[in-house]
Amino acid sequence: MTVAVVAIDGPAATGKSTTARYVAHELGWRYIDSGAFYRVAALLALRSDVDLDDPGDRARLRASLAEAEVEQRMVGGRLHTRLDGRDVTDAIRSPAVTRIVSRVADDPELRELVNEGLRDRVGREPAVIDGRDIGSIVFPDALLKIYLDASLEERARRRAREAEPPDRAEDPAVLASYEESLAVRDRADRARTTGALAPARDAVHVDTSELDLDTQAARILHLVRERLGETPSPTRGTP
Ligand code: CDP
Repeated sequence: MTVAVVAIDGPAATGKSTTARYVAHELGWRYIDSGAFYRVAALLALRSDVDLDDPGDRARLRASLAEAEVEQRMVGGRLHTRLDGRDVTDAIRSPAVTRIVSRVADDPELRELVNEGLRDRVGREPAVIDGRDIGSIVFPDALLKIYLDASLEERARRRAREAEPPDRAEDPAVLASYEESLAVRDRADRARTTGALAPARDAVHVDTSELDLDTQAARILHLVRERLGETPSPTRGTP
């Protein structure tokens, strides 16, 4: 049975979150950033000195994630993430978290915890969710699955522009370091045995290299509206 989910998957810096936010806003649906849950897990790992090579420490991390209360809420057009009542929106985007998040996300049992949490949330209201495996694994019956992609060079340019002052964002050495770290994370995300970054078989592929964010978001919204038109009464919530 179709679930009222728009799944937007793809590698980092393809505009997934901006697109998902826009589409959710236009539909009046909820926006959920699945990567934020893995980032929260990575933050917990850093805070309690988890050794990711130690199975006991991995189990400890899963236990603390299971106990943690993670909330996502839009505030002034930005999605805020709270961990046990504290805002961690910026903390989960720190370079230290970004460096380890793929390794943290390699644990199939931790992934199952995150996925259960996502399915639980969607049981309550329709949502647009971005991530890596939302269409392929977490919501195989999503109303619409989008797979966004863009060239590594363009993605590095976008990330550098977001994070660096204008002069540094154009510096070839800076761009090369962004390319390198995105490539490392892509490789790890594609190689994992469970929940690997991959398009679902029935995903609509959109290459965003040549699209500005407004055009890209409008195009995806159009696809959703088409799909909603073809499916007169989409299920609100899981069966
Ligand atoms: O925003 P950005 O694209 O940099 O990454 P993110 O969506 O915040 O995801 C951070 C990391 O979490 C990814 O590199 C993956 O390792 C992991 N992730 C995942 O494994 N599955 C998802 N559904 C979402 C994120």
